[in-house]
Amino acid sequence: MTRVIIVGAKGRMGQALVKCLPLHAGLVPAAQINRGDDLAVALPGADVVIDFSAHANTVEVARLCARQKKALVIGTTGHTDTDTFEIQQLKSQIPIVWATNFSTGVNTLFWLTRKAAEILGPDFDLEVVETHHRLKKDAPSGTAKTLVEILAEVRHLKMVEAARHGREGIVGARTSSEIGVHAIRGGDVVGDHTVLFANIGERVELTHKASSRDTFANGALRAARWAVSQKPGLYDMQHVLGLK
Ligand SMILES: NC(=O)c1ccc[n+]([C@@H]2O[C@H](COP(=O)([O-])OP(=O)(O)OC[C@H]3O[C@@H](n4cnc5c(N)ncnc54)[C@H](OP(=O)(O)O)[C@@H]3O)[C@@H](O)[C@H]2O)c1
Repeated sequence: MTRVIIVGAKGRMGQALVKCLPLHAGLVPAAQINRGDDLAVALPGADVVIDFSAHANTVEVARLCARQKKALVIGTTGHTDTDTFEIQQLKSQIPIVWATNFSTGVNTLFWLTRKAAEILGPDFDLEVVETHHRLKKDAPSGTAKTLVEILAEVRHLKMVEAARHGREGIVGARTSSEIGVHAIRGGDVVGDHTVLFANIGERVELTHKASSRDTFANGALRAARWAVSQKPGLYDMQHVLGLK
């Protein structure tokens, strides 16, 4: 049996994980960690940690997991470059599955986005639009960033230079080396993402809409079961699904 700790258990995603965990054969709950609880004390009784708390907490969670040699699944988004660097430093010590989105549908969207960008070529303008609930703290979403990363990679562009976040004022004509990124916030939207490929006379839109957090929770739980049998390293959901 694989014993699982959920960090951020009282949050929206945490609650979905607590609800879905019993449906996964081979997984048992070890502890629920919320603000103020001591993860270090709970860790000896677990095999894997799933963190859906907040980006600012993830580095410390990762350090504690590395110290006690526990596998880690990271679901938080919005990390700074420093957070990312610190987490990457630990990949030689434990298996870490880090995904901006754990849904099978979105990972299919990642794959399709790469294919479409390769097939359609440089004449198509690229824009990414995401919509989330009014309480979401980071923007654009981690998933939107991954989509931009994929598009930039196919176009041989640097993501930070290519991303054009929203547009305001006299911005002039669009250049072919920019990737537009737009974050819409409102209501209780779980997460919608559209990648737009637009050319003169035609356009292609790839859209994924999540209507339940269970899809992310079930993916993260699947990743947790997979992670415990892996060598130390940094993995994403495409590895878990066998797409890489
Ligand atoms: N990868 C994916 O597939 C995916 C899908 C959905 C969401 N996400 C990401 O997952 C994260 C959580 O999303 P959410 O919608 O569930 O947010 P949420 O409802 O705000 O839940 C986060 C929970 O973590 C707790 N928390 C914050 N700091 C903590 C700490 N230091 N120690 C322990 N618990 C702490 C929060 O407590 P307080 O209320 O006291 O702050 C809250 O209960 C976000 O980064 C979000 O972008 C990822």
